[in-house]
Amino acid sequence: MDWLRRLLHPDSAPARTARLDVVHARQVAALHHQGGFARGWEPAECAALIADAGVVTDGVFSGRSRNPEGFVISRKAADEAEILSIVVVPARRGDGLGRALLAAHLARLAGDRVAQVFLEVEEGNEPAERLYRHFGFREVGRRRGYYPKPDGTRATAIAMRLDLA
Ligand SMILES: CC(C)(COP(=O)(O)OP(=O)(O)OC[C@H]1O[C@@H](n2cnc3c(N)ncnc32)[C@H](O)[C@@H]1OP(=O)(O)O)[C@@H](O)C(=O)NCCC(=O)NCCS
Repeated sequence: MDWLRRLLHPDSAPARTARLDVVHARQVAALHHQGGFARGWEPAECAALIADAGVVTDGVFSGRSRNPEGFVISRKAADEAEILSIVVVPARRGDGLGRALLAAHLARLAGDRVAQVFLEVEEGNEPAERLYRHFGFREVGRRRGYYPKPDGTRATAIAMRLDLA
């Protein structure tokens, strides 16, 4: 009855992923703001990143919407890439959009001959850690006192790596 579910709830159609471009810069900045990070990204900063030839940005969309409900952005260097940020809009978290997004993004990086992907995640960010481990990322180190917190303390960063090739 999948067709019926989609007919009754067009927004619950399977997630669509697509490469983002500079027209999405404002939406990426707004999503990033909802990610709970200490430092926000300005729309102009997002536009510059997205326009950078060494940066790969994917978005996830519901139904026929043109507004991404999440994004992931990576910077490539030789055969390595670093995931700079991944965010899903709070109202849609836990619905599998993060998985859909990261699956599409890793496939694109693999197609671009990226062999290793790195990232950092704050210790205790369980949804993010689970998402990364689901795709096979493994912990390769810890940086204590890395993330500044609003209460003045600093949180540990877990460095993770995934071999694509
Ligand atoms: C991390 C984030 C992108 C995940 O996106 P999402 O769409 O909610 O993720 P999914 O629904 O695809 O679920 C991915 C995994 O997280 C788990 N998960 C989702 N929400 C969870 C929650 N509240 N608590 C624990 N695990 C959770 C899912 O069970 C799934 O794990 P599994 O693969 O072992 O089954 C999203 O939570 C987010 O935007 N967080 C804020 C920004 C952030 O912290 N980004 C990461 C910076 S390193």
